This record gives sequence, C-alpha cells and structure tokens, in this order.
Amino acid sequence: MATRTQVRVFSRVEDLFEAAAAEFILTSNAAVRQHGRFSVALSGGSTPKSLYSLLASKPAGTVPWGETLFFFGDERHVPPDHPDSNYRMANEAMLSLVAVPNHVYRIPAEDPDAALAAQRYESTLRQVFRSQGNEIPRFDLILLGIGPDGHTASLFPHSSALHEKSRLVVANWVQKLQTDRITFTFPLLNSAAKVLFLVAGRDKASAVEAIFNPDSDPDEFPAKRVNPASGEVLWLVAADAAAQLKNV
Ligand code: 6PG
Repeated sequence: MATRTQVRVFSRVEDLFEAAAAEFILTSNAAVRQHGRFSVALSGGSTPKSLYSLLASKPAGTVPWGETLFFFGDERHVPPDHPDSNYRMANEAMLSLVAVPNHVYRIPAEDPDAALAAQRYESTLRQVFRSQGNEIPRFDLILLGIGPDGHTASLFPHSSALHEKSRLVVANWVQKLQTDRITFTFPLLNSAAKVLFLVAGRDKASAVEAIFNPDSDPDEFPAKRVNPASGEVLWLVAADAAAQLKNV
C-alpha cells in the first residue's frame, strides 16, 4: 500500500507546534483506546523542544502520560546529562515535568562502545514490544526532523546506516561531525503507523524541495527514504522551510 503523505505549511510557527501537539494528543489517545498503550519515538535537535514544552503544559488528562512508552529515534554519543543529549533536552522540556512512570526508554549513549549501545537498545525495543523472531516493532508515532543536508534521525547523507536492512538500531559514524551517533534504521522507521516531521527554518528549504523532488538522490537526502509501507507521513512545515516547495 502506498504511503499516505500529507504536507501542511504554516505561516506562524506557533500554529505549527499547536498542530503538532493536537496530532500527538489525537494519536496518543486513539492508540490507548485501540491497544491500551501509546508508543512514541521522540526526535532530537532543537525544533521539537517547543512541542515538548507545549505538551507538558496541557491540562492533566489531555495526554495519556501513564500509558505512553517513550523511546528516542536517535541520540548523540554522549551521556544523558551532556548539553548535546537529546534525552536531556526532552527530559528538561517535558518528561521531568509530567507524571511519567518508568516508561522512558533512553538510549544508553554513555556506553563508550556505540555499537554495543545500539545493540542494547534494539534488544530493549524488542523486549518491550515483545517482538517475535524477525518481527519489527510498529510505533504508533515516530517524530522526526530534518537537517539542512536532508538527514533525519541520525541517518546522514552517504553514511553506512542508510543501507541497513535488518538491524533496527545501529551506531552510525558521521564523517562531517567526526562522531558516532546511535539511530533507528529505515526498517524500523518504515514500520511505523505514523511519522510526524516537524520542519522549520529557512536553511532547510532546499532540503525540503529535494526530499519531495522525485529525481533527487535518497542517499543525498536520506529523509526521502521515510515511507512506511502501511503507515502515514504528516509533514508540518513552517513557511520559511517550505519556500521552495511547489503546489502545496
Ligand atoms: C538530532 C536529530 C536530528 C534533528 C535534525 C533537525 O539528533 O539532531 O534527531 O535528526 O531532527 O538535525 O534538528 P533541528 O531541529 O535542531 O534543526
């Protein structure tokens, strides 16, 4: 089944975050109604911080925090208290402010061996989702951003993780940053029921155009490869980042 993709452009970035929060609230409550819990992979960087703060400010009962399983789509190879840690950002902006019991599954990126940290995280994922054999966990929602180079999660252009076909979480050496990252791979991303991209910033306009350009190279613009076979993708894009998009 083709991926259902929708793009919504916002002239006010505040409206983008309100729409993202509404989507998160709708999806989380629907998942809890359908199967008693909501599994979400949070994205890192700076864009989602406003969404996380907004969600944390919602009245009690709006978000089913107690039934939510929090994972992370990628992590920098740093300890959880490091300024670059995606976990630290999400914890400060949201997780530490809401009643979330022990359903936060952090990538153990403090492990000096990034590949081992990735392996450990994948086995945690499989345990929590009770995956059998080669079954791939299906997230109710995966949040993603993109960089100006078209990377998503920590799947950077021309990096080795782009062609991973079986592992769900890997360490990925990022040449231009001269560092390892730990990231979900496309098999896991593309098993999601819903992917929500949040994109803002003029510096992303050319990457956004390339991602929607059928002739561009997915190794050059990895976010282009996010196409859940039986899921949907919703892009919430600020007007500055959508400036080069045609007919939206
Ligand atoms: C990370 C993210 C990464 C992020 C993009 C956009 O670890 O940095 O997972 O994929 O989503 O780089 O980052 P900004 O939101 O900071 O522009």
